Amino acid sequence: MERSLVLIKPDAIKRGLATTILSRLETHRLKLVGLKMLHVDKAMAELHYAVHKEKPFFDDLIDFITSSPIVAAVFEGEGAVENIRKLMGNTNPAKADVGTVRWDFGIDIQQNATHSSDSLETAKKEIKLFFKDSEIFDY
Ligand code: CMP
Repeated sequence: MERSLVLIKPDAIKRGLATTILSRLETHRLKLVGLKMLHVDKAMAELHYAVHKEKPFFDDLIDFITSSPIVAAVFEGEGAVENIRKLMGNTNPAKADVGTVRWDFGIDIQQNATHSSDSLETAKKEIKLFFKDSEIFDY
């Protein structure tokens, strides 16, 4: 079964939205199989966002994601990667469809409440960065 990584970012954590967002995924045919709260350090943030290293917003993004604890979750389901991205909405909350997580809770393109894996290949790498095999559950 397909798995994807979801991060609840500092802006959503600070506004007490973690369980609201997790619940939205759980009630949309996605099974929670891994969950933790952690404070990502600079090295881990740079690994996670390595693909954006050359972008002008990279340093700000690293500062932002390391600015408070975040919640990391692994969800499982048929088409999980694509379905989660649909539920989250456009990266830029101003362009997100009504009813998506980012429409409801995003502030701006950086403080956009969540991150989710953009492909199955990326999901595998991202899950490995955040979770040990023993922290993901079959049930
Ligand atoms: P995320 O899905 O975590 O993937 C990369 C992140 O970079 C993205 O969400 C945004 O938080 C951030 N991002 C993307 N584009 C921009 C931009 N133009 N300016 C600032 N931050 C951005």
